[in-house]
Amino acid sequence: MDKIIIHGPSYLKGEVSISGAKNAALPILVSSLLSSGTYEISNVPHLKDIETILSLLSHLGATVKRNKEEVKISSDAISCFEAPYEQVKTMRASILVLGPLLARFKKAKVSLPGGCAIGERPINLHLAALEKLGADIQLENGYVIAKTAGLKGARIYFDTPTVTGTENMMMAATLAQGVTVLENSAREPEITDLANALNQMGAFISGAGTDTITIEGVRELKATSYRVMQDRIETGTFLIAVAATGGEVEIKNCNSIHLEALIEKLTAAGVKISCQKDSILVKSDRIIQNLHVQTQPYPGFPTDLQAQLMVLLSQAQGASVITENIFENRFNHVAELRRMGANITIDGRTAVIEGFTPLSGAPVMATDLRASASLVIAGLIARGKTEISRVYHLDRGYEQLDQKLKTLGANIERVRGVS
Ligand code: EPZ
Repeated sequence: MDKIIIHGPSYLKGEVSISGAKNAALPILVSSLLSSGTYEISNVPHLKDIETILSLLSHLGATVKRNKEEVKISSDAISCFEAPYEQVKTMRASILVLGPLLARFKKAKVSLPGGCAIGERPINLHLAALEKLGADIQLENGYVIAKTAGLKGARIYFDTPTVTGTENMMMAATLAQGVTVLENSAREPEITDLANALNQMGAFISGAGTDTITIEGVRELKATSYRVMQDRIETGTFLIAVAATGGEVEIKNCNSIHLEALIEKLTAAGVKISCQKDSILVKSDRIIQNLHVQTQPYPGFPTDLQAQLMVLLSQAQGASVITENIFENRFNHVAELRRMGANITIDGRTAVIEGFTPLSGAPVMATDLRASASLVIAGLIARGKTEISRVYHLDRGYEQLDQKLKTLGANIERVRGVS
């Protein structure tokens, strides 16, 4: 397994370009199941999770061709309607094939994803919503077995905003008979990106980005070409990294509108941020004011930037508080940060982060995707050598993060694993 070695402290300077959004590309690639024809999807990042979803689509019978940032997919010959455990356990977002397979082929057998490092992550809201559309859902031997005589539009209320639940239902409802209204929907920009792609395919979706989404069912959709949005979590990760190391970086090919909550917090902490149409200039002198932050569904502060922010706040002028309201176990990075010198106290979903805690390099272990990003930032600001193992977690969601940081002046190397 690869490792990442960082010699800190670093000072970041220069410019970096953001890749396509993993969490938009995944549902948009899956939406190709909804019709025949060849889809051309561009700005698709090179990530492990993207490889996983493409191999699942191929397993179902789709023809997949990848050329640099572009993916061509044809779902003319779907012959399998089962997403096996081996595939789904490596990436929970595989559950997104459930809605499209039911909508177009009226059947699907998808392994229950099971939990992951950050929480139990049930899919009860996905299944209850599909039953409202007229699906018969059975759970057998760890699998969801779904079938329908034909989905019918319905009014669906989500007990809690669910990103992939909203995406699954938006896709399923495009081919349902009649109108579907999703209430208390998630509002993430990735949902709007998916809705735009589906509307280009001939769907009639309105309200994406708000908490009420209306989908008028149509008889069929058609293949399209679509360019995936930029990755707002990668952008936020770089904003926090520069804030923590000090420096001046222009982040290009990004959309600051998607990061208002983070930008407001970083500005309050004393970081200088100026936003242009598709770039952000960030400057930091490393004097950081402490903060109180609550993670919330979009447009609130994103849970996917909580671990990264925690590292920054370990260097603040005084104690900070972060409350993680989305996932019940998303503090796995804390034990590793403590080993580097952070002083963090956990009480349930609340972390109190003492400031003024200089970090020192250490061997640490990544536990999940965003925790691994926080360890990279910690390595950049720590004095001495940090060795991060299990970086396959990082490769799930960041395209060449070590290379991008090296171009900004970081002393960072990837050591290829022997196994
Ligand atoms: C998506 O996960 C993202 N993944 C996650 O990003 C992100 O952290 C999360 O949304 C929250 O923003 C993708 O888009 C592929 P949810 P998702 O359903 O859809 C509960 C990353 O780092 N819930 O919005 O699985 C759930 O337990 C990943 O890129 C139910 O109770 O998250 C959680 O507490 C990590 N029942 C809350 O809702 C359900 O049926 C929000 O989860 C579904 C969800």
